[in-house]
Amino acid sequence: MKTLTITRPDDFHIHVRNGAILKTVLPHTAKQFARAIIMPNLKPPVTTVPQALAYRKEILQAVPTGIDFTPLMTLYLTTSTPVSEIKKAAASEHIYAFKLYPAGATTNSDSGVADIKAIYHLLAELESLAIPLLIHGEVTDQNCDIFDRERVFVESSLTQITQNFPDLRIVLEHVTTSEAVQFVKSSGSNIAATITPQHLLYNRNALLAGGIRPHYYCLPIIKREHHRLALLEAATSGNPKFFLGTDSAPHITSLKETACGCAGCFSAHAALELYATAFEAVDALDKLEGFASFFGADFYRLPRNIGTVTLEKSAWTIPSKYGEHENIITPLKADEDLYWKIQS
Ligand code: DOR
Ligand code: ZN
Repeated sequence: MKTLTITRPDDFHIHVRNGAILKTVLPHTAKQFARAIIMPNLKPPVTTVPQALAYRKEILQAVPTGIDFTPLMTLYLTTSTPVSEIKKAAASEHIYAFKLYPAGATTNSDSGVADIKAIYHLLAELESLAIPLLIHGEVTDQNCDIFDRERVFVESSLTQITQNFPDLRIVLEHVTTSEAVQFVKSSGSNIAATITPQHLLYNRNALLAGGIRPHYYCLPIIKREHHRLALLEAATSGNPKFFLGTDSAPHITSLKETACGCAGCFSAHAALELYATAFEAVDALDKLEGFASFFGADFYRLPRNIGTVTLEKSAWTIPSKYGEHENIITPLKADEDLYWKIQS
């Protein structure tokens, strides 16, 4: 049987939620990844160090017994975040980054930042303390076409941020366009990007051609094929600026399959297998380990993991759902076959 063994990977962008859904989704991530950068867009958002530490405890309680998993916590930036909170976060061994959501850009971003210039004093503090800023890179101008929102953000806000704060460590999260890829490639080593499995595997036809498929709807929205190819090239190039961040973002099925469905794909159930599928399609499985296990850790200045995971080439069918009762979640590629499987 064909197998692929790599150093244990990390997921540098994930939403694990809280409460009952956390218990359903977290075990999937803990089984595949040694560590994960946990997004703070809960309701209410995680804006303070004590909130993040309480959330961390809740996450650790959901880790299955016998599994070694470390949540890497982040704080949600708002216009009223005090500079002192950034100093406190820097002093905490459990906080690894701050997340910037433009207000209204995506799920639970209402408390985000409407005018990025209003938080320039916070960006200065992050820059001086060398704390990574994780950016949801989309403009929120309702007149801007949804397929252009990332490109326009990169050309306007991001360019200004990087000019004003040249040493700020930035992860442009879940890049979806060739323009974002180009920006990251041509920036200094302090600017990196995560890439999701859905943006490597699918273009917008998966979402819209032949019927609307809500489980492929996420933000930033899946783009045209030439963008997918640019992402795939970046992910498989061995360039350490691009690393794994699933953006697995579960919503209960009834909130996805409705007239106005929530944004987010749940991919944690098969994250590494989905990436392996994308890398294999361009004959680049030898580049998976750097992308999944080394480059993100290096960017975050974390030690690389010890231990390995093995993927085997064997077919299995993804279940139609995970969870139970009122917490049913439809996974990405539900009821479809995958040809890679993690050995347990
Ligand atoms: O599709 C998305 N879902 N994009 C995001 O940025 C947020 C996420 C969520 O929290 O559901
Ligand atoms: Zn996200």
